[in-house]
Amino acid sequence: MSKRRPLQSYVATTALGLERVLGAELEALGAQDVQTWGGGARFKGDRRLMIRACLWLRTAHRVRWILGHGTARNPDDLYRSIQKMVRWQGLAPASHTLRVDATARNSCFRDARFAGLKTKDAIVDAVRDATGDRPSIDLEDPDISVHVRIVGERLTVGLEASGGSLHARGYRSQSGPAPLRETLAAGMLRLADWDPQEPLFDPMCGSGTILIEGALIASNRAPNLDRRFGFERWPGFRLDKLATLRHAAAQEARPSEVAIAGSDRDRRILSTARANTARADCGDRIAIETELALDPSARPGLLVANPPYGERMGDKREVMRTYTALGKLLQTTFKGWRGAVLAKTEEQLKAMDLPIHKRFPLKNGPIDILLGIVGPSSR
Ligand SMILES: C[S@@+](CC[C@H](N)C(=O)[O-])C[C@H]1O[C@@H](n2cnc3c(N)ncnc32)[C@H](O)[C@@H]1O
Repeated sequence: MSKRRPLQSYVATTALGLERVLGAELEALGAQDVQTWGGGARFKGDRRLMIRACLWLRTAHRVRWILGHGTARNPDDLYRSIQKMVRWQGLAPASHTLRVDATARNSCFRDARFAGLKTKDAIVDAVRDATGDRPSIDLEDPDISVHVRIVGERLTVGLEASGGSLHARGYRSQSGPAPLRETLAAGMLRLADWDPQEPLFDPMCGSGTILIEGALIASNRAPNLDRRFGFERWPGFRLDKLATLRHAAAQEARPSEVAIAGSDRDRRILSTARANTARADCGDRIAIETELALDPSARPGLLVANPPYGERMGDKREVMRTYTALGKLLQTTFKGWRGAVLAKTEEQLKAMDLPIHKRFPLKNGPIDILLGIVGPSSR
């Protein structure tokens, strides 16, 4: 009889607007009871799934193991809830360093930092009472990172499994003035329903993020294969399990022949893009040139663009001219291609003078943006 592994609860966070993509990614990995909400998804699975989620999720920022729920009606209630939730000496022993972060909404904690401090006190006191020794605090590089979320009187406590945000894949040590987050780049390709067999072109590729995420998808490469994760420092964590799953994930990569290319009017950024594609180990898969490096008439594909939409770069009138020029490009050289274009406003999308089949509201950091799918037909 096969041994049943216990299911645990987790959450994964993402940018607003990418929850559906994240939910689909989790289901494809075999997560159970996937439920999305604004900015993330809850799910259940075993430890193996947690590790695979960290290795494979393209749109997740953080993955947390949920330790439990409780009430936080006032500071003392929070302290008691934390102390009775789990045996903290097993999770945050004195041999490990600790950090606590908190968010609070509609709660008695006007300043979430106070909830964080109260939680830290409760954990440290619990460990000291049980063992006579206490974990020390390290805000820079803690072994154990606890996350507390209070909404109204409801408390949810989790451990950061991913460590830092998963968007930092490690291939982009250099970037342009307004780089797109790797998670948003991967998410926009999914929302545009890009078929990894069809050519991909970015005429404003900047540091190359969308092209690199496309190449990783096309070759079925786990985006976080070479990262370190928070769970590696959990007491008793079996590093051999991670090594096995890392190796298995590496074996799943397959060669891809799809044409992926980019250009940009800024020549200096092109060398950054080339350096990034090389670091992501897809330098031979992506052509980055000042000239058009693929034949758009050979096969229609997806033209992606993240133009300067006026919030951080570019003067407003010039920005509108850029969208009009993009529309022209899709009506001439790239006739028959679909476009997936990011914009700040509906007017910018309309300036392309093409039918807009779908619009997806998204957040790029703090900025509200739109992804417009334009072109000859929707999928
Ligand atoms: C917001 S950045 C793109 C960032 C990119 N997605 C990344 O992750 O690094 C916009 C890019 O568009 C380029 N650009 C602006 N107008 C252009 C034009 N008319 N033709 C080609 N490139 C243009 C800029 O040089 C800049 O690199």
